[in-house]
Amino acid sequence: MREVSTKTEVREAVHEVRCSGGIVGLVPTMGYLHEGHMALVRRAREETTFVILTIFVNPTQFGPGEDLDRYPRDMERDLEMARREGVDLVFAPSEEEMYGPDHKTWVEVEGLAEGLCGASRPGHFRGVATVVSKLFNVCHPDLAYFGQKDAQQALILSRMAADLDTGIQVVICPVVREEDGLAVSSRNVYLNEEERAQAPLLNQALQEAAGRIGAGERDPRALKKGVEEHISQASLAEIDYVEVVRTSDMRSPGGLEGPILIAVAVRFGETRLIDNVMLDVTSSPT
Ligand code: PAJ
Repeated sequence: MREVSTKTEVREAVHEVRCSGGIVGLVPTMGYLHEGHMALVRRAREETTFVILTIFVNPTQFGPGEDLDRYPRDMERDLEMARREGVDLVFAPSEEEMYGPDHKTWVEVEGLAEGLCGASRPGHFRGVATVVSKLFNVCHPDLAYFGQKDAQQALILSRMAADLDTGIQVVICPVVREEDGLAVSSRNVYLNEEERAQAPLLNQALQEAAGRIGAGERDPRALKKGVEEHISQASLAEIDYVEVVRTSDMRSPGGLEGPILIAVAVRFGETRLIDNVMLDVTSSPT
């Protein structure tokens, strides 16, 4: 496994791979790797011949007062995990390497980025779309892997890849969960014992909503209320949002039909957790 920190080194390595007919897979991360990230790497290894894992805590996607400074980091452990999983190249640039002092260009994906996490984290998706565009331009992958854990992010980046004619296929991989259903996240380490015990309620509330749709519920407001009530059973949970939206435009549907996303963001103390379920709702209630 090669470890590099400059864009030039990545470009050289990718050029060699391309010359020998290889297929490049990209897994962008902010490090502090866990099973969720590793599932993306495994999928990339199955579908490509050269896997690039990037580790960069991107400052432009954190707002003032967010957890940029205390975002967990452990480069040694990350490199060991990447090595064990068969990553070919790790790109871990510095902030200066990624953003020059005169950086002025931003990528915005209209419509999809305003609601849900975009509403509670203004500018967040602009930072994400910009850094991922830059990573696409540096790494020139054939396929890029993102997790459904961050569903809005994955849908925005799929749209961006298509709209900007990148030719890159965005692959969205299923949410990896702990045994009790809590979505694996770098931020779970911040939860104290009591918060951790209550956190699986997010997934339970989403599963219950999915069950209600299966049983014929077609009113998005009733569904949203049900999820809110379920999460409120967790005494330490403070709901940031519960949204039921169409995946195509991230807007609330009048009634439920076609591909939808039920997404939640909940604060436990200082820690903000997100989770979601995606469903394709058939027109006639079963
Ligand atoms: P990060 O939070 O490190 O996540 C990197 C990738 O891992 C994302 O695509 C995310 O959706 C995926 N992931 C995280 N937890 C997961 C889980 N439990 N199951 C499945 N996939 C999971 O998301 C980012 O970094 C950044 O915004 C980034 C895209 C790297 C841009 O800076």
